[in-house]
Amino acid sequence: GAPVEVDVSKVEPGQLIRVEWRGKPVWVVRRNQATLDSLSKLNDQLRDPDSAEQQQPDYAQNEYRSIKPDLLVTVGICTHLGCSPTYLPDSFGEQVKGVTSGFFCPCHGSKFDMAGRVFQGVPAPLNLVIPPHYYVNDATILVG
Ligand code: FES
Repeated sequence: GAPVEVDVSKVEPGQLIRVEWRGKPVWVVRRNQATLDSLSKLNDQLRDPDSAEQQQPDYAQNEYRSIKPDLLVTVGICTHLGCSPTYLPDSFGEQVKGVTSGFFCPCHGSKFDMAGRVFQGVPAPLNLVIPPHYYVNDATILVG
């Protein structure tokens, strides 16, 4: 499949936009500073907090799982059986206490944080996949 160009210049903090790449949903989410600050506090609740399982390119194997800290680029497919999780920007606390936002898979209840990292105690075995991507310029990402 051809690479997909994404204009990220108008994505507001907290907003998620969807594009399609190779028939898969790819999400681009702009995280706010509070969200970024909260990520490291979740580590002991996560299955693979350091993303050791290679679900991302090397350049995204960092605490934010991204090239730029604020912009998460991830494949929106649950690593359990392939449903598409729901982004809960304000009500994720109903799923994980004390966590404002995250992704909840309605099929069997898997939960992922704002870096796409899977929580413990759910069926999904792995973090969400970070697709290959790079910045053409500040406003534009090429996925693929
Ligand atoms: Fe997401 Fe099963 S497909 S929890």
